[in-house]
Amino acid sequence: MIYRSILICIAFAMFACSSTTEQQPEKLDVDKMLAYCVEKTKVSLNGLSGTDSIPRNIYPDQTKWNKVGIHDWTSGFWPGVLWYAYEASGDKDILEQAKKYTEVLSGVLDVPVDNHDLGFMLYCSFGNGYRLTNDAKYHDLLLLAADSLATLYNPKVGTILSWPVMRKKMNWPHNTIIDNLINLELLFWASKNGDGSELFDMAVSHAEVSMETLIRPDYSTVHVAVFDTVDGHFIKGVTHQGYADDSQWARGQSWGIYGYTMCYRETGNEQFLQTARKLADVFINRLPEDGIPYWDFDDPNIPNAPKDASAAAVAASGLLELSEYMKHDADKLKYKKAATQLLAKLSTDQYLSGDSNRSFLLHSTGHKPNGTEIDASIIYADYYFLEALLRLKKTQDNVKWAYVK
Ligand code: GLY
Repeated sequence: MIYRSILICIAFAMFACSSTTEQQPEKLDVDKMLAYCVEKTKVSLNGLSGTDSIPRNIYPDQTKWNKVGIHDWTSGFWPGVLWYAYEASGDKDILEQAKKYTEVLSGVLDVPVDNHDLGFMLYCSFGNGYRLTNDAKYHDLLLLAADSLATLYNPKVGTILSWPVMRKKMNWPHNTIIDNLINLELLFWASKNGDGSELFDMAVSHAEVSMETLIRPDYSTVHVAVFDTVDGHFIKGVTHQGYADDSQWARGQSWGIYGYTMCYRETGNEQFLQTARKLADVFINRLPEDGIPYWDFDDPNIPNAPKDASAAAVAASGLLELSEYMKHDADKLKYKKAATQLLAKLSTDQYLSGDSNRSFLLHSTGHKPNGTEIDASIIYADYYFLEALLRLKKTQDNVKWAYVK
């Protein structure tokens, strides 16, 4: 009897202990994680053969990067990782590589623009390069890129066309996706650097129309808004990379948080700030127990669905900026804490690639309906993870993040 009581007590103590451990927020050592990213960047650099092939993804059974050319929509993230790794370390060899991998992307503008991703491609590379070096060449290229992106603007709709190829392929005459918000940063920058109010007005209109058509009343997000090109009316909201037209694709929600926070920074429009906040609340409230989103919050296979570390990394970076714009300390703390918890969880053995491959992070999902990049390492997860760590480091050191001027 006594033995039985002792065993029950031990079992109870073990249960209490393990459930407390599960509920404890993970500890995050930002300096250690920045050093990890810098070291892994050097390992990747040593394994690359030339600047015309750029890291994009690593599948679960692989150790090295699968690479793409400069016209791939992800081509700007690797140079962006290099700029951030240089910013984190001051390492001059990384700086030289950042310049090389950035400059090779100037060829992106040699062909007619065929998607909205110019912002991702050229702002993450040349934008960060300009922020850190003030090189006039980078400034001039960014202005050309913004003008090129602006050619996709349809004044009848009031947004940029995201995917020209989908006009025929999917019968989406004019289409605008939630991800496109990120590309507006290039237009806002150009409007302050010589291109004037026209680009500013386009960016604002795009953000407003997206708010009306890509955000549902419950502040979950739609992936694609389809419009008529003749009178500009909204036809329908559908998904391309999410589970269903009415589901909440995780990375789409993250682009929304990040995008509307940036739109508030650039315009001071309170509606954008409130939108970013509500999108953030929905994202945070729907996170699963382990703190990292599944690829789509509504996949019926949860908990047996793949995760998306990239959605967590994008959201973490956006939430850190969002926390800065809160007027009350409790709100500042809320979003900073949410971001820190995302980063802390990504910084555990479960999500870090460690020695298993050359990326920083495992378990991202690129395009589940297409069957591509499922549970993989993807370069944009690494980019936003490093960006968020740097943002957090600067907050801890009381240094303001220098946005591209
Ligand atoms: N199209 C950008 C993304 O996959 O999130």
